Amino acid sequence: MNRRDFLKTSGATALLASAGTSFAQSSLRPLPLIPMTDLTTGIEGRLPLTLAAATHDFGNAAASATYGINNSYLGPVLRVKQGQTLPFDVQNRLHDVTTLHWHGLHIPGDVDGGPHQEIAPGDTWAPDVPIVQHASMNWFHSHTHGKTAQQTYKGLAGVMLVEDDASLAADLPKTYGVDDFTLVLQDKMFAADGTLTYDVNGAVFEDGFIGDTLVVNGTIAPVAQNVPTGLVRLRILNACNAQFLTLSMQTGPMRVIASDGGFLARTVETDSILMSPGERYEVLVDLRTAESNSLMVGLEPEEGLFNFLGGLFGGGNTTATALTLTRTSDKGFDGALPDQLANLAPPDRSQASVTRDFSLEMTTGADLAALAANWGNVCGGGAMAINGQPMNMDRIDETVRKGDTEIWRITVDDQLHPFHIHGCSFRILTQNDAPPPAYAAGWKDMVHVENGASEVLVKFDYEAPEDAPYMYHCHILEHEDCGMMGQFTVT
Ligand code: C2O
Ligand code: CU
Ligand code: CU
Repeated sequence: MNRRDFLKTSGATALLASAGTSFAQSSLRPLPLIPMTDLTTGIEGRLPLTLAAATHDFGNAAASATYGINNSYLGPVLRVKQGQTLPFDVQNRLHDVTTLHWHGLHIPGDVDGGPHQEIAPGDTWAPDVPIVQHASMNWFHSHTHGKTAQQTYKGLAGVMLVEDDASLAADLPKTYGVDDFTLVLQDKMFAADGTLTYDVNGAVFEDGFIGDTLVVNGTIAPVAQNVPTGLVRLRILNACNAQFLTLSMQTGPMRVIASDGGFLARTVETDSILMSPGERYEVLVDLRTAESNSLMVGLEPEEGLFNFLGGLFGGGNTTATALTLTRTSDKGFDGALPDQLANLAPPDRSQASVTRDFSLEMTTGADLAALAANWGNVCGGGAMAINGQPMNMDRIDETVRKGDTEIWRITVDDQLHPFHIHGCSFRILTQNDAPPPAYAAGWKDMVHVENGASEVLVKFDYEAPEDAPYMYHCHILEHEDCGMMGQFTVT
């Protein structure tokens, strides 16, 4: 039985949330605010994004070798508006080929930044990226074939907040760094000298990389932030390579207002959110009714069963405090908790004219340990598959007709996987043979696949030609690099 099966079958997720221990609790560091570039009021000239090697202090006084985008680690938060076209100059100052994919954007294949839009060292990629979609939290990250896991882990990831007229006028907290915070959650591993490590072996390919240390906005958790007395909005990205995070509040429910592709129909109250790599959720925290509250994150146990039991008996740690918010006497956003947020009809499966089946295949018989030894940090693209075929840049797997609505039905032979489709948002019809949790019933571009089938209803409105196809893949980045990815055109 693998780690994820154990969590599921034993109901251990609930125990994780109540275990309550957390590591490094002693030193509460301030929440780092990711530098924000606000483009909603206008754009002048081109927008440089410079990808470069750097050193970064994760808060443990060690100089880790990282990558950054205009920063020493991670990229900026870009705040943009529906209707704009973003003239990016993506400059590759790394000694390695890279790409930059806009995850969640409804854009044509030729500006999508997938593995076909390689940027050689020293080169600049200059896509004009149109923003046609509604308010939503999106992100961008490396999508270099066979190297996505290591490059993203090192820091090639950033956040793009799309606003629209309705979201800018909405009665919600929206002052960045005051009552509106962007949180990039990641798990990391550090060597004895405190520097960031990423070592792969067969087991890491199999489960994906699982770190033992939670990092928020590039700083080791827990972190702390003072906020005015009022409502506070947290826009959360799981930018882990492979780790599913169980989010909860220390006190009271999570109040979820948005998922990957935009606002939910109404605020959803839930005890916890199971958040896969690549997913985004927005929550509201009411600091009028409590002096402080904390965002808690349940991590998967590092080494399976033994470590997990160790956690229960106080030996290891499974639930970490990510962020503690403490109110000051300043008056903050005093609006009501919103009820109605967006007009969202339930998905109607009768709109689909095509159904496609995708089976994710972990167990293709490849020797992962040998691949790890031979390929260093690159899996070689041939060990995992979808519908019997490992990812091949020269093969188009599916051809979609532009404007069609389809049902994609995804199954898997083992483990829990987050499935992602480029160039669209979709609605989840079923997740593991059941209706999705209410917080995942709105616009999404990620769906969990484990037992039974997960079905999504998706419409493709933008073109992706043969030389710039879209990807669909598992968002466990080591699985993606190992070949659990396919390509499709929209014409
Ligand atoms: Cu977030 Cu194909 O990626
Ligand atoms: Cu994507
Ligand atoms: Cu996977």
